Amino acid sequence: MTALTLKPAAAAGQRADVIVVGVAKGAKGPVLAPGAAVVDEAFGGKLAAVLETLGASGGEGETTKLPAGATGLKAPVVLAIGLGALPEKDEAFDEDALRRAAGAAARALAGTKKAVFALPVDGPEAVGAIAEGAALGAYTFGAYKENGDAKNDKSPLGEAAIAVDKPRDKAAKAALERAVAVAEEINRCRDLINTPPNDLTPEAFAAVATVAAKEHGIKVQVLDEKALTKGGFGGILGVGAGSDAPPRLVKLAYTHPKAQKSLAFVGKGITYDSGGISLKPAGHNETMKCDMSGAAAVFAAVVSAARLGLEVNVTGWLALAENMPSGSATRPGDVLRMYSGKTVEVLNTDAEGRLVLADALWKASESKPDAIVDVATLTGAMMMALGNRTFGIMANDDAFRTSIHEIAEEVGEPSWPMPLPTHLQKGMESPTADIANMGERMGGGLVAGLFLQEFVGEGITWAHLDIAGPAFHEGAPYGYTPKGGTGTAVRTLVRLAERTAAGDLG
Ligand code: BES
Ligand code: MN
Ligand code: ZN
Repeated sequence: MTALTLKPAAAAGQRADVIVVGVAKGAKGPVLAPGAAVVDEAFGGKLAAVLETLGASGGEGETTKLPAGATGLKAPVVLAIGLGALPEKDEAFDEDALRRAAGAAARALAGTKKAVFALPVDGPEAVGAIAEGAALGAYTFGAYKENGDAKNDKSPLGEAAIAVDKPRDKAAKAALERAVAVAEEINRCRDLINTPPNDLTPEAFAAVATVAAKEHGIKVQVLDEKALTKGGFGGILGVGAGSDAPPRLVKLAYTHPKAQKSLAFVGKGITYDSGGISLKPAGHNETMKCDMSGAAAVFAAVVSAARLGLEVNVTGWLALAENMPSGSATRPGDVLRMYSGKTVEVLNTDAEGRLVLADALWKASESKPDAIVDVATLTGAMMMALGNRTFGIMANDDAFRTSIHEIAEEVGEPSWPMPLPTHLQKGMESPTADIANMGERMGGGLVAGLFLQEFVGEGITWAHLDIAGPAFHEGAPYGYTPKGGTGTAVRTLVRLAERTAAGDLG
């Protein structure tokens, strides 16, 4: 990953390959953001005017490069990154605006060894946001290309040195360290999502999780197909039945001796979703390696909690299976006996996520955590409702749903609260089993949420994040979001764990 360091503000005049400054969109043209003073002086106080001449507006994500050789600066190039709208007078730049700008700048600096980021920093939060943005924006997935990256691609930015007033300040250093840990885990989560499904089988995913868990003092337990059969995990087994790569249920337990509270995170880990016998048509299956994004996010969040040493117990459950059609696959019409004892009539084998999650939710409920949050690329309906950048939040507790929405907003992850209308339960009635895995088509994301709710233990606070939209980005990169796996929900889960550790939540 791009190395992240802190440098004194005067470093804007130090040796580097590029100096990054911020430029915002003012009413009368581009306005230099705080932090750019040293650079502006080198340009005789005319940097904003020079940028305007070059056509810069300060619009979000806009990059303008200019030569600095003649100015006396020790870096040959200045990169002005657009921050978007200028904040109100006396207000600081929004954290996520800094994160997005740092991300866009870092991506534009691919092929560069060292860049100084002279962006507006008014405290440790801004340091964390810039560091996160740079580390996330510089991400590329080159594992399957010759020489790491194809010859037209350049290697990611080597070092991002963040210019701050006091580089030795404890809070600034702590913010930087936190950002490094979380960004490394988000990038690892992205790697897992981007790894092709012929390589990332449930077994392979479990092996990666086991190695990482051991490295960070997390207790890990892997239930293989034998153990799942013995335990009666009919949902996970039923989904994995058609694949030559058998399913796994992975438990990752991070504990802190002073913990007062416990959280359980449950992730949907379908390493490939073909739809099964209810096969998806061409055009709908090309990106289905991303169907384990929930499990990857949970994995990253538990490892982050361990690396940050949070005073809270966090258990992650990765429900891993491959959904394939074959002679041994579950058929539409089959009835599965779930881990909870309930029976489910499978009407559509493409509604498989809720089946693996149901078993994992019931298992997670046994230890009675203070709250459970599941994360899943669960429904196309949620993408219809909220688009490609926003995840839906459902919960059995209004206050908890609101808290998660606020936390997501705070960390810069777009989300929206969704209801669980009980009248939709009727559509899942089955003449044969206790419940069917399908209901009304309208409100399909909410129907899926209602199905999951049936498998949450009595009295346990629970929320469900349907990340089908934002988990995998198919368009051009923007801000700190690359093409492919995004790592959405990791920052929300980590902040939830931090808040719970601090006793801020119920
Ligand atoms: N993994 C899909 C949902 C999905 C679709 C995620 C597109 C990301 C992008 C899920 O397993 C699925 O197939 N859901 C069905 C449910 C339906 C059969 C009730 C859907 O949404 O169409
Ligand atoms: Mn499916
Ligand atoms: Zn799926």
